[in-house]
Amino acid sequence: MKVVGGSASVPLARGIARELSVDFVDVAFEKHPGGFPDGERYVRLLGPVSGEHVVLVQTTHPSPMIVELFLLADAIRDTGARRLTAVVPYFGYGRQDKRFLDGEAVSAKTIAKHIAVDCNELLTMAIPANPEVLKTFPLPTREVSGMPAIGRYLKSAKVDVLLAPDQGALRLAKEASSVAGVPFDFLVKKRIDSYTVKIEPKALDVRGKSVGVVDDVISTGGTIATAAKELKAQGARRVIAACVHGLFVGPAEANLKICDEVIATDTVLSPHTKVSVAPEFAAAIRALR
Ligand code: R5P
Repeated sequence: MKVVGGSASVPLARGIARELSVDFVDVAFEKHPGGFPDGERYVRLLGPVSGEHVVLVQTTHPSPMIVELFLLADAIRDTGARRLTAVVPYFGYGRQDKRFLDGEAVSAKTIAKHIAVDCNELLTMAIPANPEVLKTFPLPTREVSGMPAIGRYLKSAKVDVLLAPDQGALRLAKEASSVAGVPFDFLVKKRIDSYTVKIEPKALDVRGKSVGVVDDVISTGGTIATAAKELKAQGARRVIAACVHGLFVGPAEANLKICDEVIATDTVLSPHTKVSVAPEFAAAIRALR
């Protein structure tokens, strides 16, 4: 087995290779220093993969990373890999899982259809859609949980309680809390628009406590910041925001100033990436038949 990483996911790919004790194949991403002036992607495998089971790790965000994934998958197949497992840690374009209006593209399926051209199976994490969509993908697909990694971090940070900022994140907070060994609770969120959320008031037992707020994605930070304000108003001593996928777009950094610490995994790289989900993906790869 060999592991290849696209440029969105090199540290995670290296981590997975280390966990599995297999070779990591380097990739050149630029033909000329500075790359192509029009922003097109270039890839070249710098080691042989012929006859190998290759694990290709690449998040499909931002959009050019999708093209890079397809170029790498094609290069790996063309140079004779026996089997190709795609690990897409953050499934960008995974949000749309249904056709709501005539003529819309069901983007999650579109991306999966193209991954299936060269890949035998797909592993992903916390897809930003109803996970039922994975059953409609044209290749065997498994969602791997990042919550054990987040739970381990929050345990070492000595949080007293975990909180889901909405009911959708409840199962995540529950899973992380079983690893961290602390209780969990949840808030009720109402989304007003892409940038604004409202949280229903609810009495929580957080006075003087260190609280971890757990979500799948932090995008604008509106959800977590609104939850953190409520927690601080109820006397929480410390609020740690934790997510699997840290996108941190638009006003996120300003919104998140209310939090004492912000942590994200290495599915999307950012200054808040402090936790690796390499052990979780490595375990899922070991379990492949
Ligand atoms: C949606 O409900 C998700 O679980 C997240 O809560 C949401 O995507 C976070 O977005 P934002 O950071 O923009 O509030």
